[in-house]
Amino acid sequence: MSESAVPALLPTYAPYPFPVVRGAGERVYDAAGQGYLDLYGGHCVALTGHSHPRVVAALRAQAGDLLFYSTAARLPVRDAAAQALVDYAPAGLGSVFLCNSGAEANENALKLALKRTGRSRLVAFQGGWHGRSLLALSVTDDPKLRVGLESHLAPVEFLPFGEMTALAKVDWASVAAVIVEPVQSIAGVRTANRDWFEALRAVTAQHGTLLIFDEIQTGFGRLGAPFAADLYGVTPDLLTVAKGMASGVPMGGVLLSDALARTVTAGELGSTFGGGPLASAALLATLAVIRDEDPAARARTASDTIRRGLTGTVVSRVRGAGLLLGLECGTQAKALKAFLEARHILVGGSADPTVLRLMPPLTLSDAGLEEFLAAVRAFPAAQVAA
Ligand SMILES: Cc1ncc(COP(=O)(O)O)c(C=O)c1O
Repeated sequence: MSESAVPALLPTYAPYPFPVVRGAGERVYDAAGQGYLDLYGGHCVALTGHSHPRVVAALRAQAGDLLFYSTAARLPVRDAAAQALVDYAPAGLGSVFLCNSGAEANENALKLALKRTGRSRLVAFQGGWHGRSLLALSVTDDPKLRVGLESHLAPVEFLPFGEMTALAKVDWASVAAVIVEPVQSIAGVRTANRDWFEALRAVTAQHGTLLIFDEIQTGFGRLGAPFAADLYGVTPDLLTVAKGMASGVPMGGVLLSDALARTVTAGELGSTFGGGPLASAALLATLAVIRDEDPAARARTASDTIRRGLTGTVVSRVRGAGLLLGLECGTQAKALKAFLEARHILVGGSADPTVLRLMPPLTLSDAGLEEFLAAVRAFPAAQVAA
């Protein structure tokens, strides 16, 4: 299916039938200069838009100064990025361990929870997705990725997401940590209500179980608030970040409660490239864009416009918050995705074959929004009725 597939590259992905050679704002371009409105956001990564000029300028300057030095040295750019990140994070999460990806962030958060509590059990949620490294995969509810590895995975109890009664049935005193994707993106943008998050926080605090929020997709304004923790008014013990935090430069992080941070000793966590100069410069620039352009506010208004604009179309219901949205399309999801792609509009699929996902740059313009809504409205009525 792919023009870009070459034998040298292991065929583990199913790429678009066109190569992407350039990106600017909400669009990516192929070699012929054809633009595509990117509502998939390069898999929820292009938070500030593609190649935001301020992020690019910061990277150019940093590359000229210092491409890399290891964690053996103190780097002023890393110190500044860490400080800016904890200043932006929910109160009470005052330190960060910087790494390179979402899986690495979750792996370290889970490891730390197991070590600190001395307990061996973990709790996660049905439909949750946390990464492909072994501990992250252990808490990921994706049977096809777990096949063949079952005996290597940690023991995990998967509870129904958002169900209050399930919380009461767990022997929390033996559980090291519970990890939750506050909005389950890959599962089809499934949400839970505030009461449930409050109950989860209360029961874990009561039994000394550490609460981990995986905010790898939901962080940095995506939901219309800085983090889901802010939206739901619940502060976890650990909060993991990655994806858009450095606007596309690979980076991940584990934010820790002050109490937990005090227990971490030198050398206990580590990563050669963690918080390297380029990623740190990109994170600093991303946070500056967030401060100056308030993309969370844009996520809220754009979300409202999309919800209103899709009324009466093939999309029967819109799930999610801010600009992490799931479009319920019944049997028409695949046809709508292909229809939009033919009009050079990219959207995401999900594990639910009836739901398409939108996770565009938070800088999405009115023109981009209107282009998308007009295309959905143009989806043939016969197919809507089918
Ligand atoms: C919610 C969530 N957690 C963790 C990950 C893993 O991140 P990475 O692919 O950077 O390892 C992903 C990736 O899609 C994700 O969506």
